[in-house]
This record gives sequence, C-alpha cells and structure tokens, in this order.
Amino acid sequence: MSGGKLNAYNIEDLRRMAKRRLPRGIFEFVDRGCEDEVSLRNNCAAFEDIKFRTHVLADVSTRSLDTQIFGKTSKMPIGISPTGTAGLLSFGGEVGLAKAAARAGVPCTVATNGMTSMEEIVNEAGGDLWFQLYMWSDKDLSLKLVDRVKSVGFETLIVTVDSTISGNREYNHRNGFEVPLQYTPRLIAQLLAKPGWLVSCLLQQFIKRGVPKFENYPPEVMDGLLSKSFKRSSLKNESLDWDDFRLLRDRWPGKLVLKGVLHPDDAAMAADCGADGVIVSNHGGRSLDASVAPIQALPDIAARVGGRITVIVDSGFRRGTDVVKGLALGADFVMAGRPTLYGTAVAGEAGAYRALEIFHEEIGRVMGQLGLHTVDEIGADCLWQPSAAATSFRTAAE
Ligand SMILES: Cc1cc2nc3c(=O)[nH]c(=O)nc-3n(C[C@H](O)[C@H](O)[C@H](O)COP(=O)(O)O)c2cc1C
Repeated sequence: MSGGKLNAYNIEDLRRMAKRRLPRGIFEFVDRGCEDEVSLRNNCAAFEDIKFRTHVLADVSTRSLDTQIFGKTSKMPIGISPTGTAGLLSFGGEVGLAKAAARAGVPCTVATNGMTSMEEIVNEAGGDLWFQLYMWSDKDLSLKLVDRVKSVGFETLIVTVDSTISGNREYNHRNGFEVPLQYTPRLIAQLLAKPGWLVSCLLQQFIKRGVPKFENYPPEVMDGLLSKSFKRSSLKNESLDWDDFRLLRDRWPGKLVLKGVLHPDDAAMAADCGADGVIVSNHGGRSLDASVAPIQALPDIAARVGGRITVIVDSGFRRGTDVVKGLALGADFVMAGRPTLYGTAVAGEAGAYRALEIFHEEIGRVMGQLGLHTVDEIGADCLWQPSAAATSFRTAAE
C-alpha cells in the first residue's frame, strides 16, 4: 500500500487531527461512549493485559496479510464496521469511506442510518460492500428494505441487535447534537468555530444534497433531520427477538451475520438459527456502559461456535497488535468503526485510506516480529501465558 501520510503515524494521530477539525458536538458524537464511558475505556485497555511471545529465526522476509472472509479475499484481516455519520464528517464521506476500503481491498459495511443511499455507494465505490440492518418495529418495512438491499446486489447482511434500547449519551444532549438537530446557540457557536468543516462539508451538503437525511429510509419513514415530526423512538424495536432473526434468515439468501453478541449462548443460538457469523461487539462502548470488552468476551464465544460459523470482533481495535491479538484469541476477522471515521474527518477518502494503511503496516510488522508468514498462522501459540513452571518458581521464591 502507498499513500500520502497526512502526518498521521498512527490512529491516535488521526483522532487528534479529527478533533481539531470537527465541531465539538460532532467529534464527541463519534469519539465518545455512553454514561461514565467505562466500556469505552475498557475496550482499549483490555488489550494491555494480553502479551505476545515471539518465534525467532523464522525467515519472515515474505509475508501475506490476505484473509478469506465469506468466500472472498480481503487484503488484510480487518474491515470497516457500519457507522451512520461519515457524511457529517466530510462531504460525501460515506462514498469516500467505501472507496478507501475498495482501494485497500477490504470489506466496508454500509449502514441503514447512512446519509448517502446504498445505491449511490455501490455505484460510486464498488468493492466488497456489506449492508447493516436495524430492524424497525414495522416488520414489513424492514423486509422491504431487505429486498432492496438484495436487489442492489449486496451479498452479506449484518443485523445489529445491541442497540434496540439506545445508549445514554448525555454529551449529545449537552451539545444539542440530537435527531432532529437542535440549532441551539451552543450548537451554532460550535459549528461556526470550525469554518473549514463548515464550508467543505456542511455547506457543500446543503448546496448539493440539501438537508442531511437518512437516505436509505423508505419514503414512509424518511424524514429530514430538521423535521419537527421526526421521532427517533419510531425507529427502535424493543420487542425484537429470535423469531425476528429467523424471519430474516428465511428472507435473506446471502450471508447473514448477527452483530452485537457478547454471550456464548447467544452466539450458539445465532448459529442454531442459521446465522453465517456473529460480530462480537459492544457497539464501540456506545450502548451499555460497563459491558465486557469484546476482546474479553471473544475466547468463550470462539470456543463455543468457532469453526461452525464465522466469528468477527470489533470495538477498541486501534493497533496492528490489537488485530493480531483478536485473531490469536479465536476471531476469523476484525472490524473497526472510529479509526476510518477519524480519517474521513481529516481528509475524506484519503484519510480513511490512511487509517487502513496504518493498520496494514502495523499488522504486517507485528506478524514479522512474531515469526509469522500468513494470517492463518496467527493462533494461541503467539500469546504468552504464565506457565506452571513460572508460577511454582515465584511461589518457591516467596
Ligand atoms: C459514530 C458511530 C456511528 C455508529 N453507527 C452504527 C450504526 O449505524 N450501526 C451499527 O451497527 N453500528 C454503529 N456503530 C458501531 C460500529 O459499527 C462499531 O461496532 C464500533 O464503532 C466499533 O468500535 P470502534 O469504533 O472502537 O472500532 C457506530 C459507531 C460510531 C462510532
């Protein structure tokens, strides 16, 4: 891979640059978690307890990051999670994100709540695109949307089930960043404080596309974000259950993946209901605070359903070492949401590509340092566990 470095050497650099560029309410919407942000912090902190052990003298001069996922080759073992807001970070952000993924040769997930229509993203970007579905309480409308997703040509459908009850994000209320947008003096001051973003993103949006809206919604529910009649609760479905998932399985002929799984029993149930995969995820710490980090929940889930269905993990992956740890603990594939969003905020497609390029460089480097040549070689052997000998040595010394 090659590309302008944008002076970003890691994902945290992109995050800091995004913070400088975006209005505070928008940056916090992307960056923050919920309530006391215990989940958010723990998602990243949990990686620190996992340590590698290396194999040396393994001639690692040739290495491949190619990874098989749902019958296709991804150029590395990480793809892009669904996020509904790239269009608010840079003009046409969702297309930029998908183009970056296509260029990097990795899958990208188009969100139900995107501000660019699925048709436009498919036509403009191409590549291995997956679609993420939120099931509404009106099942007929949801199934109509599924039919549209099928007719557009998507082959993989991700159903997100961990936010049927919204996370408590108090900062959004403080910032007036809500649906519909509340143009409070505070929000307006925040927008005006970032003229670069205002002109290159919001103004372009209004001139070329009009009021930002959820472009994948059917006319029955499509509503401008500014509309007073818009009721967020009408998009939620607290009664969602396994019968709904089975209904979807009957309707969707392609790969079907359940996103937001943290319990091995739910992963097993998903497999019993015909899922092709699960995404071990806590929605990036945005839904339930104090939930287990996906990297912590992963080993039990992989032990239960790994080899039977595909196990994917997201939430908190910021480094190549994190990705390799995820694979070593039993994941088949990893996804990330915020890293490419930060990149999109900084420089649209080029910024999202830079985030993917950073992951590629870092994963390749750590594989070499571990003495590995292919992604298939990543396994539990890479991880250090205190041995019985080390424990008895410590006990004897005490
Ligand atoms: C701004 C933002 C918007 C998101 N929107 C959606 C969404 O519409 N659908 C969904 O399934 N997940 C959504 N997510 C969750 C991501 O798909 C993913 O699970 C999460 O970002 C992973 O954590 P990470 O950001 O630490 O990588 C969103 C996340 C963020 C940060």
